[in-house]
Amino acid sequence: MRGTAGPLTTGVRSIDGILGGGFERGVLTQIYGPYATGKTTLAIQTGLLNGGYVAYVDTEGGFSPERLLRMARERGMEGDVMERFIVFTPESFAEQFRIVGNLKKIVNRTFSLVVVDSITSLYRAEDRRGLSAGLMRQLQALSWIARRNNVAVLVINQVHFDSRAGVTRPVAEYVMGYRCKDILRLDKLPMPGRRLAVLERHRTRPEGLMAKFKITEKGLEDV
Ligand SMILES: Nc1ncnc2c1ncn2[C@@H]1O[C@H](COP(=O)(O)OP(=O)(O)O)[C@@H](O)[C@H]1O
Ligand SMILES: [Mg+2]
Repeated sequence: MRGTAGPLTTGVRSIDGILGGGFERGVLTQIYGPYATGKTTLAIQTGLLNGGYVAYVDTEGGFSPERLLRMARERGMEGDVMERFIVFTPESFAEQFRIVGNLKKIVNRTFSLVVVDSITSLYRAEDRRGLSAGLMRQLQALSWIARRNNVAVLVINQVHFDSRAGVTRPVAEYVMGYRCKDILRLDKLPMPGRRLAVLERHRTRPEGLMAKFKITEKGLEDV
């Protein structure tokens, strides 16, 4: 298990490399990309490998205890790893809003990581008007939690296709970009199981750095 001061290792050398060691504490990192690019696995694996409690807000049912236990077993990790994960499963954006607000009272320095996976899926499902204020407030609360407890906060986001520009963009790009200091995009590569991480923004690292990785029984691994 790692100490409490440094960044949180992802367990993938190439991704740690572009991040300068791992996910920064004290700020929000946005992880976005299409389905099945490894966003959830990356968040779970980071919680698994760094010790400390993990607050995991799962809005998509993507958090799988079986997958977590399998990854731990494949890595020869002993003990009850599930014990360190505190999982919340909101079913509406309003409930998500309350849960994220309550995290201010729950998260303390025994936590290493907070994950919201994803912050926009319930937001998209509802009437969008007036909701960006709700999103803004959650990001503000999460920033406070990150600073106050020196934890890493991963805010997972989805993409939508911007037909005018002909590119995929993160949902609520402007609101998210305002609060997330670091932004990591995940993409599929043509080979099965192969993925690419692109550092789109970072407080202290050059933008555009790329890392290849693959998805296996262990979780995410270097190629
Ligand atoms: N045990 C496993 N071995 C290999 N690949 C797996 C395993 N479990 C899930 N995957 C792969 O992981 C991908 C989904 O990863 P996930 O982290 O849930 O993506 P996202 O959160 O971006 O949608 C899928 O491509 C799936 O095939
Ligand atoms: Mg997911």
